[in-house]
Amino acid sequence: MGARAGTAAAIAVTSGKGGVGKSTVSLNLALALAERGLDVGLLDADFYGPDIPLMVNLKRSQPLERWLLGRAGGGPALEPVERFGLKLMSVGFLIGERQALSLPAPLLQGALRQLLTDVRWGSLDYLVIDLPPGTADLQQELFGLVELAGALLVVGPQDVAHLDGKKVLDMLRTANVPVLGGVENMAGLACPHCGELIDVFPRSTPERSVWGDGVPLLASLPLDPEVGRAGDAGAPIFVSAPEGTQARIYRELASRIVDAVDAR
Ligand SMILES: Nc1ncnc2c1ncn2[C@@H]1O[C@H](COP(=O)(O)OP(=O)(O)OP(=O)(O)O)[C@@H](O)[C@H]1O
Ligand SMILES: [Mg+2]
Repeated sequence: MGARAGTAAAIAVTSGKGGVGKSTVSLNLALALAERGLDVGLLDADFYGPDIPLMVNLKRSQPLERWLLGRAGGGPALEPVERFGLKLMSVGFLIGERQALSLPAPLLQGALRQLLTDVRWGSLDYLVIDLPPGTADLQQELFGLVELAGALLVVGPQDVAHLDGKKVLDMLRTANVPVLGGVENMAGLACPHCGELIDVFPRSTPERSVWGDGVPLLASLPLDPEVGRAGDAGAPIFVSAPEGTQARIYRELASRIVDAVDAR
């Protein structure tokens, strides 16, 4: 990692299944860590579907190819974008909003390294890294590039999310990445009339879940239509509803993450 970002505790946010809320959790967790007075960076390393720019309503128009070529020629380092007190970097800032990233594999590998090393992160306490789902090359590449303080595994309540999550666990354990714990997202929906939690997805059983596999459950976030609206509107739920249930759970999650990292 770049000079002083190298001292940051880097946390990878992973999942087996797509769409379970990694980007939402990464962003709101980063905000909750920053609220504690910590210097926090957020790297959106989802090369195939960078969603963080949309979630914070930011775009950048510096074409990735030009940046990569510029760096090869000794061009300037990238400045992270500051938003809501976070330092952000995303492949999405480097490519057009509707442009699919189709770089040849060697360039793609180089791009991840450059996002870690060429960004002027400055001094950070935490670097939260939002990953694409699954166990592909990009994840493996990251483990080789950064010594992670640990990984967070995001799952939905349903069986498939847990079964796919177990593949990620296997990948993390094989790569000797400490598993800090898991976040269950979209865990029930509060009835707007009586407040009782309704299970929208059938729940995985304890034996089949990642919790039965020794992963500590750090937070359970219910479904809340406001989360999706806030994400699409570019003002994350932690900012748009700082006194709400989601923000409270993110504060607890941040506190548990800090404890888990400090304990290592
Ligand atoms: N607790 C929640 N309640 C309601 N909507 C949610 C919740 N968590 C996430 N969402 C919404 O679900 C969608 C998927 O979330 P998100 O993009 O964070 O998932 P992801 O795991 O990063 O997806 P991908 O695998 O595509 O990167 C988004 O529209 C987001 O706003
Ligand atoms: Mg995502």
